[in-house]
Amino acid sequence: MNIRCATPEDLMNMQHCNLLCLPENYQMKYYFYHGLSWPQLSYVAEDEKGKIVGYVLAKMEDEPDEAVHGHITSLAVRRSHRRLGLAQKLMEQASRAMVECFNAQYVSLHVRKSNRAALNLYTVTLKFSISEIEPKYYADGEDAYAMKRNLTGLDLEEAIADVQSERKHICSVRGNMDSCQSNSNFEILAEEKPPQPKS
Ligand SMILES: CC(C)(COP(=O)(O)OP(=O)(O)OC[C@H]1O[C@@H](n2cnc3c(N)ncnc32)[C@H](O)[C@@H]1OP(=O)(O)O)[C@@H](O)C(=O)NCCC(=O)NCCS
Repeated sequence: MNIRCATPEDLMNMQHCNLLCLPENYQMKYYFYHGLSWPQLSYVAEDEKGKIVGYVLAKMEDEPDEAVHGHITSLAVRRSHRRLGLAQKLMEQASRAMVECFNAQYVSLHVRKSNRAALNLYTVTLKFSISEIEPKYYADGEDAYAMKRNLTGLDLEEAIADVQSERKHICSVRGNMDSCQSNSNFEILAEEKPPQPKS
């Protein structure tokens, strides 16, 4: 199993994984909006044949009155690959990239009140807390929990060491050190914000 930064070529497979796993689906242009605006923030998990089995789609928010923060637009892992720690790793990578690349203070997301698996992942494993309840947030009328995780305590050196050791492990398994190292060279693009679709 390999976790790596998503590339534009991955976006269609991420959309496919999303369609299999979640009722909240987005047009392809919304994936491109994320991939082209914040190429550092979205990650995929791929199996040994290179098939995408999980993804996290993430972005930075642009709200002038609030602290700099990122947002998780969508997260899913295919049924066949659940409970292997993939969602946790995808979320950690995206959060670290938000801090490293944009100095994010926190990360936010929405989750259905009834989504027990995701709620456990966010509250127990990743230490998110509920910031508010948004009534009828979803198209079918279900309420959402708006959640936040403070990233200011994220120990960057430790985090970078973890990511590097994870990458080294993946590289040694795959015998492909060069391509893995090139993944770690983040490039910050100028932000030009298109109209914000709801996520
Ligand atoms: C939620 C989801 C992303 C979790 O993916 P995953 O890769 O299986 O999660 P992980 O293996 O990283 O799990 C980490 C922790 O989350 C919690 N968790 C994950 N799945 C769980 C489940 N079915 N029931 C209870 N807790 C669960 C556990 O605390 C778990 O730690 P543990 O395995 O040591 O007990 C996955 O179930 C999924 O894709 N669901 C459908 C899409 C979705 O709901 N996305 C989130 C939208 S907000």
